[in-house]
Amino acid sequence: MKAIEVKNLTKVFGHLVAVDHISFEVEEGEIFGFLGANGAGKTTTMMMLATARTPTSGTATVSGYDITRDGSKIRESIAVVFEELSLDVDLTGRENLDFHARMYHIPKKTREERIPRALELVGLKTKQNMLVKHYSGGMQRRLEIARGMLNQPRILFLDEPTLGLDVQTRRMLWDYAKKLNRESGTTILLTTHYVEEADYLCDRIAILEQGKILVTDTPGGLKNSLGDSLLSVKLLQGADELAKLLREVNWVKEVNQRDGWLELTVDSEGTRIPEIVRLSREHGFAISSISQYKPSLEDAFLHYVSRKLEDKNHE
Ligand SMILES: Nc1ncnc2c1ncn2[C@@H]1O[C@H](COP(=O)(O)OP(=O)(O)OP(=O)(O)O)[C@@H](O)[C@H]1O
Ligand SMILES: [Mg+2]
Repeated sequence: MKAIEVKNLTKVFGHLVAVDHISFEVEEGEIFGFLGANGAGKTTTMMMLATARTPTSGTATVSGYDITRDGSKIRESIAVVFEELSLDVDLTGRENLDFHARMYHIPKKTREERIPRALELVGLKTKQNMLVKHYSGGMQRRLEIARGMLNQPRILFLDEPTLGLDVQTRRMLWDYAKKLNRESGTTILLTTHYVEEADYLCDRIAILEQGKILVTDTPGGLKNSLGDSLLSVKLLQGADELAKLLREVNWVKEVNQRDGWLELTVDSEGTRIPEIVRLSREHGFAISSISQYKPSLEDAFLHYVSRKLEDKNHE
């Protein structure tokens, strides 16, 4: 059984198609991420899967249960941490967890085991008796995650888990999520607009743009899809002409012009710098700067998103 199976899921708000016929599957035990800009439809998709929003059309199952028919079964098997925090700030950290555990009818003995463990895992044991209103933003978010874990969900939904957190707290949360995934086999679906977060955490990533999935692949697969290397070339003059020449070269996969720079995707493990320098010199163009590097996930993200914008302009 797949942890999550989505077919043509769609959400329309008035005239806006916020989620537009998306389909994907998440394997059990996977960390799967939605990467996309503000307004791409990440939260809306997650809310439909968490049965907090009704889809306009399409189908999906979570832990094998249908999102439109078996809402309560799904809610028993998942935990959700949304962007908006939902803690009781007039209670202490520990009280928040205890209250939540009672709501889930977790027996006293189990509560007494799980609460300290959850606090320990997110590094809040020493702050457990402090009122949550005196917690920092990062501590509150960690407490939310600890709370979500109390009913030992099979699937954890994290909506922008590290938004606005400092570098150390962010890294700690990432490692906590990984540990949870590895040790308890919890499937994690997360949304983010941080490329480095998706790269560090996710087994697979779906790039979302204007309600549509542009591509789904592993971080490595997305990077490799750009070719072996990228080259940035800065010319004093003749950028248009050199771009035209390079488009005819067989090892050049793609040529883009951005802010006076030529960006090339090349099919080659070795360096192509000498050949490009020679080619420009032969045609009388002076290169002022050139460098070659491996594609990053950010390069891949920009590649897919900007290609979509170009397609749109040609419609
Ligand atoms: N309740 C609503 N009513 C009307 N429009 C909505 C509603 N919720 C979301 N939208 C719209 O749907 C689109 C997708 O929103 P969504 O919150 O899913 O994006 P997101 O990818 O989570 O963005 P962000 O990165 O900013 O959190 C946006 O254009 C948003 O304005
Ligand atoms: Mg969102």
